[in-house]
Amino acid sequence: MRSDQLAEVKDFLTDNGFPNKVDTAVVLGSGLSGFASYLGKPVKIRYQQIPEFPKATVQGHDGSLIAGTIGNQNVMIFSGRFHHYEGYSFSTTVLPVHLSNLFSAEKIIISNAAGAVNTKLNVGDLVVIEDIFRLFQKVSVQPSQKFIYNLYSWAEKTKEIASETGLHVQYGTYLYVKGPNYETKAEIRAFQRLGIDVVGMSTVPELIEATRIDLPAIAISLVTNMAAGLGSAKLDHSEVKHAADSRKEDFAKLVIELIKKL
Ligand code: HPA
Repeated sequence: MRSDQLAEVKDFLTDNGFPNKVDTAVVLGSGLSGFASYLGKPVKIRYQQIPEFPKATVQGHDGSLIAGTIGNQNVMIFSGRFHHYEGYSFSTTVLPVHLSNLFSAEKIIISNAAGAVNTKLNVGDLVVIEDIFRLFQKVSVQPSQKFIYNLYSWAEKTKEIASETGLHVQYGTYLYVKGPNYETKAEIRAFQRLGIDVVGMSTVPELIEATRIDLPAIAISLVTNMAAGLGSAKLDHSEVKHAADSRKEDFAKLVIELIKKL
């Protein structure tokens, strides 16, 4: 989105009860929209009502932007995202990163639903993403100057905070695939050899763009299924919902700690 369009979005939101500055932005992945209920003094605006905004279309994504408070922080939640596989350009996919930056957010916490490639993981696991892998696909917003992926120290801090919560949290490498098809069994066997832990169709464009504009970003996957060939369950949306429901309180506890301590 162009900077004048982004400015128009911000004007609309502040005219409708959003604060001028937020401390933390949160992107909620499939099935995780319930996190918004933890916000104090919530102001919720549907994406459809926001000028220039694309609509979130995927099942399980509610498609709204919510401002509110957690402790003494102003928080902005993107409930629903704009996947590249739905036909959005990468510059639209990373809209939450750009808008968070325009609201002077100090950090962005990104969540997603992912498939487990590493068989040590289980459905329902929360995985702090400590590294990413792109399979040589173009994922970034271009053109740009060259830049370095520099979010490792934030991932380290996230691991420390997560371990202090006493929750059962795992750590791993997330592979970005373009989708929209789930992977084949042969692909998953190959990804295992590459050292991948989880696979999904989001988050990496956002993390890379956050790096480029120097916005601290961290990401958490919720394992909603074992990747193709590793589990017996059929891959569909009910599985996502089931896994998300089973860990939604722990997910909220972790994200609230990260909002307060990162
Ligand atoms: N593959 C890709 N994306 C996903 C998966 C998966 O198995 N599960 C949730 N998002």
